[in-house]
Amino acid sequence: MKPTGTPVPPEGPILPPEPDAAARPGRAVPAAGAAAAGKPPPVSIDDYEAMARERLPRSAFDYYAGGSGEEWTLRENREAFHRWVLRPRVLVDVSDRDMSTTVLGTSVAFPILVAPTAMQRMAEREGELATARACADAGTVMVLSTIASATIEEVAAAAPEAPRWFQLYVHRDRGLTQDLVERAVAAGYSGLVLTVDTPVLGIRDRDSRNRFASPPGVGLSNVGARFLPEVEPGDSGLAAYVRTMQDPSVTWEDVEWLRSLCDLPLVLKGVLTAEDAAIAAEVEVDGIAVSNHGGRQLDGTIAALDALPEVVDASGPCEVYLDGGVRRGSDVLKALALGANAVMVGRPVLWGLAAGGEDGVRRVLRLLAQDLDVAMAIAGCRTIGDISADLVRPAPR
Ligand code: FNR
Repeated sequence: MKPTGTPVPPEGPILPPEPDAAARPGRAVPAAGAAAAGKPPPVSIDDYEAMARERLPRSAFDYYAGGSGEEWTLRENREAFHRWVLRPRVLVDVSDRDMSTTVLGTSVAFPILVAPTAMQRMAEREGELATARACADAGTVMVLSTIASATIEEVAAAAPEAPRWFQLYVHRDRGLTQDLVERAVAAGYSGLVLTVDTPVLGIRDRDSRNRFASPPGVGLSNVGARFLPEVEPGDSGLAAYVRTMQDPSVTWEDVEWLRSLCDLPLVLKGVLTAEDAAIAAEVEVDGIAVSNHGGRQLDGTIAALDALPEVVDASGPCEVYLDGGVRRGSDVLKALALGANAVMVGRPVLWGLAAGGEDGVRRVLRLLAQDLDVAMAIAGCRTIGDISADLVRPAPR
């Protein structure tokens, strides 16, 4: 049937349309998401992943996509979202909606932060600098990894006004560790995220198979080792780096030591149990990120979403964030209904970067934000404060 009358605009455009990257001066990246000849444009995170798979060398794609062991926890992170269903409320006036919220006192346009991921320059030349600019445009927080391929200072300079946090791996060389914290403070980072789930690196078969090493020109810019070491067949350069440089002896006492180094709010990333959440609350950290490192550490651990309720219950006044498998607006809705203040996304940003650099990341963040906006509207939520525990229930068996 032919449409009649006034054409209806497509549903759900909330943010102003993006100019094509190619049309912007000084940005030599292909227009992310612009349909390659004959292919439809990407409309989901999975579409961006498919584009990244086509564009990246095998070992880079495998490093980004892979998990540890049998990758069971990696799959569970996604599956866990299907174990909850939404209970939308109807006949709510949702004509005026607002996704903004605060994290550690910082305003963000929507409750989706960018998780720290290492070596983003493997995805695209500008790497972390592109991510920083895209986050600044989108109005959200970027967390920079210790083992990034751009320095703390370069990333700060790329988007000087934007809020950003620094993720810390404690190194055996405590002087180096202290120096990283001091550099982050000096460069205006407003939060410190201590990753606590990586005393050693998880065994990642894909990286061992590929003898994973950083490609030429991509190194760990913030720490002494600029490039990953060459390794024997069956080993991974990153695993060798972590084995030799990072400190497996870190305990709660070191959390106290870190707090003595700076006044930044402190988030512990990688908590999965009520027991650890209770200690975190007792030592008065500011935030807890419920995370299994995107299924890259101990295979067989609980899905991040499944761990969320017990951590929330034990976390006292700490803010709680969740990462692992967030790919849709409805995932964000479920995580917030189960008590998270915000979520973080890791791989989706890497897929955006690989597909189209800075513009690709901007589009991925926009896509997630639009998806959340539509989900909130249909669920009867006007603001983040309207998202309550009543919005979810376990999926019927
Ligand atoms: C990570 N992650 C991570 N975490 C961290 O604390 N420091 C780091 O350097 C890295 N590096 C890293 C590299 C890559 C390629 C991935 C995929 C992940 C974990 C990350 O912060 C986050 O916990 C997960 O990525 C969340 O899962 P999703 O969103 O990727 O499913």
